[in-house]
Amino acid sequence: MKIVVTGGLGFIGSHVVVELQQKGFEVVIIDNLSNADKNVFNGISEITGITPLFEEMDLRDKASVIDFFSRHTDVDGVIHFAASKAVGESVENPLLYYENNLNTLVYVLQELQKKDTANFIFSSSCTVYGQADQMPITENAPVKPAESPYGNTKQIGEEIIQDVCRVTPNLNAIALRYFNPIGSHESSLIGELPIGTPQNLVPLITQTATGQREQLSVYGDDYPTPDGTAIRDYIHVVDLAKAHVVALQKLLKREMSSNYDFFNIGTGKGSSVLEVVNAFEKVTGEKLNYKIVARRPGDVVEAYANTTKAKEVLGWQTELTLEDALASAWKWEQNIRGY
Ligand code: UD1
Repeated sequence: MKIVVTGGLGFIGSHVVVELQQKGFEVVIIDNLSNADKNVFNGISEITGITPLFEEMDLRDKASVIDFFSRHTDVDGVIHFAASKAVGESVENPLLYYENNLNTLVYVLQELQKKDTANFIFSSSCTVYGQADQMPITENAPVKPAESPYGNTKQIGEEIIQDVCRVTPNLNAIALRYFNPIGSHESSLIGELPIGTPQNLVPLITQTATGQREQLSVYGDDYPTPDGTAIRDYIHVVDLAKAHVVALQKLLKREMSSNYDFFNIGTGKGSSVLEVVNAFEKVTGEKLNYKIVARRPGDVVEAYANTTKAKEVLGWQTELTLEDALASAWKWEQNIRGY
């Protein structure tokens, strides 16, 4: 079975490529290398012993998308990661985000719509819930107005897919709403490679521990949570990657009851920023220099998943712990030097 992974050299995409290849799928990666390192390709090949096909391509170029699918008529599924993901940048440059995250989606769907049958997995985010009224968050929680153009592209992306599926019975799609992906493959051959200053908590923690950054700022300790810091659902990227394979298999086996559905992909467990810091110190033996600063504008108090739907419909649940993820992130941080 031939699966196209757009953005397949990125953080999550590369881990999904590994899991797909290990399950016997043939993978074609499309990536424009805008936020990825070519060494990731070598890492994937080394882990799996299989060199995936790779096409360096920008999906904003519609002619290239048409050309790609005309050369690969035997594609069984597409997992679509290619997108920009920095919240702050999206506020500064909304059109970049709308073009990069939505035009590309439209072009890919246009090609899939032409096929007799097509399977599609979309990389969505728990950001669509904003500050949900109830924890843990079920898929029935309302989608709240987006806080940023980035968040808006995930909401609109889901709506586009749903609208297209309604009129395209041959298109089967699943949107996966990720909570906070962290960690890296146990080999440390692939992992998260933030370009410039990282925005997310765990790369900031590991860079502080290596001394690349002097101090971690903990954004706010006056939230209405047990220790006052904000709560998230941190999921090991390898567990997250496996969710994609399971969802794809459900589509391929025609086991879904409708041709569009969406799932929370998280652990179901909320951890506060200080709990993450403490767990990091415990698993690594490193002392982290941090200080409490003001809240970060736009942050929600808490977000963690109700995972029942993923468990019952997809038969998927996480296997790895927060500690596993932090240990792997730390091992990876020390290996990045080789990049
Ligand atoms: C962020 C994005 C979200 C996106 C996700 C992708 C925002 C507001 N949200 O989620 O839309 O889908 O990344 O992974 O940017 N923290 C600190 N100090 C730091 C960095 C983070 O205390 O230096 C805290 C944050 O306040 C938050 C938690 O750590 O409580 C996690 O932050 P982060 O990793 O940025 O993820 P989210 O904000 O949940």
